[in-house]
Amino acid sequence: MSTVYLPVRIEFAPGRSATVGEDLRGLGCNRVLVVTDPGVRAAGLLDGILGSLREAGLSAVVFGDVVPDPDEACASRAAGVYRNEGCDGILAVGGGSSIDTAKAAGLLATNPGPLLAYEGVNKVPNPLPPLAVIPTTCGTGSEVTNVTVITDAHHYKTPILSPYLIPKLAVLDPDLLRTLPPHLVASTGMDALTHAMESYTNRVQHWYAEACALQAMRMIADSIRPATVNRHPDAIARMLYASTLAGIAFTLSRLGLVHAMSHPVSGFAGVPHGLANAVLLPYVMAYNMVGNPQAYAAVAQALGVPDQGSAIRTAEAGVREVMRMNRDLGIPDRFDGLGVTREMFPDMIRDTFRSGNIPINPREVTEQDVARLYEAALTGAAPV
Ligand SMILES: [Fe+2]
Repeated sequence: MSTVYLPVRIEFAPGRSATVGEDLRGLGCNRVLVVTDPGVRAAGLLDGILGSLREAGLSAVVFGDVVPDPDEACASRAAGVYRNEGCDGILAVGGGSSIDTAKAAGLLATNPGPLLAYEGVNKVPNPLPPLAVIPTTCGTGSEVTNVTVITDAHHYKTPILSPYLIPKLAVLDPDLLRTLPPHLVASTGMDALTHAMESYTNRVQHWYAEACALQAMRMIADSIRPATVNRHPDAIARMLYASTLAGIAFTLSRLGLVHAMSHPVSGFAGVPHGLANAVLLPYVMAYNMVGNPQAYAAVAQALGVPDQGSAIRTAEAGVREVMRMNRDLGIPDRFDGLGVTREMFPDMIRDTFRSGNIPINPREVTEQDVARLYEAALTGAAPV
């Protein structure tokens, strides 16, 4: 049995963000809270979007103070602006942090606080105001997902899942990614690859998610290198599309051990989400593939690896392909030097097991296993 519930309109075209005002008017908005971060503003990406709102006869208030790994205070400030300014709709422009802040602010606009009381699945009682999203990275998938992730006072990245968190509109405009720095193309793109791979290999079997995940992995394997090193416009556009496909996949079938382990790495050591996933991915692939060699062989082939004569050998070649991908993209092969220390391991291991992605991981996992994987990823021990 599987359900496909995706109440989000997806518009994909270069330059499409310059007409988003009409879309927001169509959603019934008059005064829009634009949620973004200082980098997006400095890159000039808001100019055409705010112009489009004006042309459509809408007024806008900009909340431009989104921080990386946003917490409840950040979301509450945005929600306060929404209320005080009499807004009736929200537009997120940015990466995962901006989109997740916009979702959390929308949640607080129509539901009483505290925000973190809604941790978990389907605890949000009331629908959000109309929410439109324009991603400016090629990784998060949050423009189509049912989740927001908010960091609590103890560094725990708290997931809140609800169908009300699925935006009404996602505008995919690859022109906005032209100025994205190469290291962010690489790390957010590896986040998208991780979404697709974990969705495809985990214990939740979902036919629609599988199709989206496989296609996302193929597109990312073809495009992530030229998108990163040359900013090739077609490659960037394919990465943006693939990251949204991967977002659809994991909204339907969720994730696995890489995300369970990477959130604590970000929460305690401040390693950006995509980078934390990219470093962990080959280690967790090597661990997980024993639990489902066929799925990981299919992953390898989606990444362009030829059949090696057996599922486990093909899967192992897939791990090497991801190690090579990281190397080509300038992503380190270990956490050493990125702020992660062994002293953090006990807290990181505890929080790993709070994740709802642990029970659906393709291989059963113990605290000792996670400790061993963190140690290997810290020191750069060869995954295979
Ligand atoms: Fe992610």
